[in-house]
Amino acid sequence: MKKIALGICSSISIYKACEIIRSFQKENCEVRVIMTANAARLISPRLFSALTGRRVIVGLFEDEIPDEITHVELAREISLLLVAPATANMIGKFASGIADDFLSTFHLAAKCPILIAPAMNEAMYLHKQTQSNIKKLREMGIRFVEPEKGYLACKDEGWGRLAPVGKIVNMSLQLLRKSQSFVGKTFLITAGPTREYSDPVRYLSNPSSGKMGYELAGEALQRGAEVILVSGPTHIIPPPGARVKWVQTAEEMEREVGRHFPKADVLIMAAAVADYKFSTVSSQKIKKQKKSQTIHLVQTLDILQKFGKKKGKRILVGFAAETERIKENALKKAIQKNLDMIVANDIKKKGSGFGSDYNQVTLVFPDGKSIRSSKRTKSEISAMIIDVIEEKIGKGS
Ligand SMILES: Cc1cc2nc3c(=O)[nH]c(=O)nc-3n(C[C@H](O)[C@H](O)[C@H](O)COP(=O)(O)O)c2cc1C
Repeated sequence: MKKIALGICSSISIYKACEIIRSFQKENCEVRVIMTANAARLISPRLFSALTGRRVIVGLFEDEIPDEITHVELAREISLLLVAPATANMIGKFASGIADDFLSTFHLAAKCPILIAPAMNEAMYLHKQTQSNIKKLREMGIRFVEPEKGYLACKDEGWGRLAPVGKIVNMSLQLLRKSQSFVGKTFLITAGPTREYSDPVRYLSNPSSGKMGYELAGEALQRGAEVILVSGPTHIIPPPGARVKWVQTAEEMEREVGRHFPKADVLIMAAAVADYKFSTVSSQKIKKQKKSQTIHLVQTLDILQKFGKKKGKRILVGFAAETERIKENALKKAIQKNLDMIVANDIKKKGSGFGSDYNQVTLVFPDGKSIRSSKRTKSEISAMIIDVIEEKIGKGS
């Protein structure tokens, strides 16, 4: 039986939460209700405890919480947090990281997928602040069931009516299924740049931020995978739950990938690994002497090619940052390196790729087929890539 936490806010559409609970129960899901204090002023929590057979959580402190359950304990138990109906206020709190009641505190503690079904008056929904909050949360990987246009409780016609219960429940069940799809699977993901040193203070690198690899790790974790993240130096925070192995050079990355490769079911090489390193590395800082300096570079080992040869039943995914003949070059690499898929991106495109929150990619398969994405957030692109891997694992390839 899967456990869902249902956050209920003080929207006029609160009465629809009863039907949501009943629908989940028909699907054999256990529902734990969290109400905001304002929601509890619109409808008595007793109604929801009668429906669920569990006391409803309203406050954050001991005397208000049933069975001494804390936000951290509940976060460990559930597979999905659905907020329906979600008020403009709660969406704003989530987007700003405010944690001043049980629901908003729980949102920060939850590691499971989060789905939000907003409901409000059209002016509130279309307000620039609300739309900016929704955009921010989407970029963080939170999903939304968009409200519909129709007759609103405020007697207006317009956007903001809570999406139909069937749609909310279906999307929740889809996310629940996904949250279990990689249980027992190990994902080995590389991310970020590498640094090839010439002396203790100088190195050769690239502008990779690590965002794409970190998003992929987060997405795999949300679907139940164990994730080992081999990361070059970055300034971003790894997703909670990932086992992070920090490396600097291509050689260190190869060693760390090799250490974990035997137990990996999926290897995704999203790191921008240096192709060349200095032929010699000085242990002392090289003095500034000559007017010009010639440096000698040698190729680093091609990590993907090496592990492509030992692929076995694993799924191998590579990345190709290209500036010309994107698909053609990517296809060549996919075949050469024995990959199941290569994610090609045109790094010349403005506003996507290296360092950006956005990306526009073409997924290229060794049989020559391809899927092109529009410009989307790296979180959305990572979901698209992981969906393909999920399908491949489902087919047993
Ligand atoms: C009768 C009533 C209906 C309301 N309906 C909504 C609504 O549908 N959506 C919304 O965002 N706010 C609505 N509000 C305003 C919220 O209740 C208010 O912003 C509140 O501070 C939100 O608290 P909460 O997010 O902790 O539940 C309504 C208020 C009242 C009194």
